[in-house]
Amino acid sequence: QVQPVIMAGGSGTRLWPLSRAGFPKQFLVLSGDPDDRMSLFQHAVQRLQGLATDGLAVADTLVVGNDEHRFLVLDQLRELKAEPSAVLLEPVGRNTAPAVTLAALQAAEAGGDPVLVITSADQTIADTAAFTAAVREAVRAADQGAIVILGITPDKPETGYGYIQAGASAGGAGAVAVQRFVEKPDLATAQRYLAEGGYFWNAGMFVLKASVWLTALAQFRPDIATATRTAWAARSTDAKFVRPGKAEFAAVPSESVDYAVMEQCPGSAFDIRMVALDAGWNDLGAWDAVWQVAPKDDKGNASIGDAIVKDSSNTLVHATSRLVSAVGLKDVIVVETPDAVLVADRARSQEVKQIVNQLGAEQ
Ligand code: GDD
Ligand code: MG
Repeated sequence: QVQPVIMAGGSGTRLWPLSRAGFPKQFLVLSGDPDDRMSLFQHAVQRLQGLATDGLAVADTLVVGNDEHRFLVLDQLRELKAEPSAVLLEPVGRNTAPAVTLAALQAAEAGGDPVLVITSADQTIADTAAFTAAVREAVRAADQGAIVILGITPDKPETGYGYIQAGASAGGAGAVAVQRFVEKPDLATAQRYLAEGGYFWNAGMFVLKASVWLTALAQFRPDIATATRTAWAARSTDAKFVRPGKAEFAAVPSESVDYAVMEQCPGSAFDIRMVALDAGWNDLGAWDAVWQVAPKDDKGNASIGDAIVKDSSNTLVHATSRLVSAVGLKDVIVVETPDAVLVADRARSQEVKQIVNQLGAEQ
């Protein structure tokens, strides 16, 4: 039995002004393909439900997100005609380690000890068949007690990802042992890993039994384990919505799965493995990544919505409420929304986060 879990509580600030606190990037349609009207979250739901085969039962999706977005989650599931097994609602974000713990406790509640297939809500994956094959492989290893992560072959020294040093046969199929896991290394370290070879990016997907997660967290971060259990014990349930105790959850230490558990596993008694994923993965971290995955003309320009781009190159124009036209641009990002417009150098699209920080609650 596989229990799909989607972590959907992030804020996606680097995709401002399209991504907002009340409507973050995972709920946006970002493919740039006019025939694709599904959000990143909806694609994630559909990909996970597609894991089912004759031999593999897949439960309804378990969503862990922010209370503020509960109707977005529900509406988007309804559009897919997908019924959630439950929607766990955090009163405040405490990062992914507590979120996964809530999911593991909910899964344990339902009885049995399912393999959790936990994914981010904010990525694109071009090749669904390759994704399905890799995850099924991961499920086989997790069924035997392993903690399994999916690894992407890196092509640049990106510092926003986790790096996995994996065993020799990692290029082929199968789950290989993980020697080292380093979350968000500095640039010099990332450059060294790329030069050395044998390193992979963590795709932000984790496959393991609910009981294995709870045991590992209790060992590495007993403070998070105990505090999350306290919040869970104080939960209230309203149809498919489950809310951990508000004050109790606010008291849970904030930490990601990567720092809390994955970095600690290699060299411990836990069997941590990696399955290579070669499926056109992109985590759409910033506008530059949206430009990368979008359909483009022969000069590398992507026009999304009502946009006209002339005599330009490698430029993205994303219009939502008006006609937006551009002439003679090179490597520029333009994003138009009814109340805010972004114009940025494509190479500096990460810095949008600083604008959002400056705007604070007014974003
Ligand atoms: N429920 C819930 N609660 N979900 C959350 C929370 C939270 O407090 N915080 C983040 N999420 C969700 C996000 O919506 C996203 O889908 C996923 O968890 C990952 O969070 P990010 O904040 O986007 O993590 P990251 O990009 O910094 O790093 C992770 O992903 C990289 C790949 O994209 C790590 O796992 C890295 O190791 C990995 O390389
Ligand atoms: Mg991310």
